[in-house]
Amino acid sequence: MSTYETVTVEKRGKIAILTINRPDKLNALNKQVHGEGVAAMEELRKDDSIRVLIITGAGEKSFVAGADISEFEGQTPVTQRDLFHEKTFFNTIDAFPKPVIAMVNGFCLGGGNELALACDLRIASENARFAQPEINLGIMCGGGGTQRLPRLIGEGRAMEMALTGDMIDAETAHKFGLVNHVYPAAELEAKTIEMAEKIAEKAPIALRLSKEAVKFASRSNLDEGLRREVDLFAICFSTEDKQEGVAAFLEKRKPIFKGR
Ligand code: COA
Repeated sequence: MSTYETVTVEKRGKIAILTINRPDKLNALNKQVHGEGVAAMEELRKDDSIRVLIITGAGEKSFVAGADISEFEGQTPVTQRDLFHEKTFFNTIDAFPKPVIAMVNGFCLGGGNELALACDLRIASENARFAQPEINLGIMCGGGGTQRLPRLIGEGRAMEMALTGDMIDAETAHKFGLVNHVYPAAELEAKTIEMAEKIAEKAPIALRLSKEAVKFASRSNLDEGLRREVDLFAICFSTEDKQEGVAAFLEKRKPIFKGR
């Protein structure tokens, strides 16, 4: 694994933890974080020993406090559009063939919330705060906030966040369905790893296809989605892991999935 300046990667068995590492800037996303985040994920994508990825922010105060506002100076529409090219950090997470969990340990704002939204699950500490505050800067969401957020929590709630820029606390985010679970800060890492370990024991191909199918639900109509689901379901029947899963059930033992 390469070393990076603005992100660190720690491997713990089948789990990798990618930490955005600019705590003195509350882990704001500058161009280097975007580039290194994508590069690190490309390495993790190819690493068959890694089955689940956790993304978090360094320090105790912030997950990610949004785009690095100091880089906005002098930007033009063209440079900003280029930043959101096809292979962004957001889209890389969305298309990552393994489950990605956002471990939200504090401020989760703007591009930080959009990063969490691109993940498959979001687990937050009680002190986490969520907002799309771009409106306060005279701009709007650019990393999926107006698209992924309403699909997850509904148009009315997403609209309020986009139009007011107000922060919501972890309890409200949980009530909205923005986060899956909330834990005291001291338990956040252990609880997130527990969830990651549980998922890491499942069959990798079935995980990948399940992620693809669930994500397709918000990109298609019901008939297309049901057809896609049955196609992906059928693919599972070509895997060794399906043989193993069924055999283990019938033999009353724990399955050992190999991702084949
Ligand atoms: N971009 C660049 N730098 C940021 C940043 C961002 N999005 N968010 C925080 N920082 C920097 C601050 O400038 C400060 O740097 P400095 O110590 O060199 O002055 C450092 O991180 C700590 O932030 P600070 O504002 O002092 O902390 P705070 O506890 O008083 O406030 C926030 C925390 C999150 C409320 C506040 O930092 C904030 O509003 N950040 C911007 C959030 C935002 O609008 N994000 C969307 C951008 S599109």
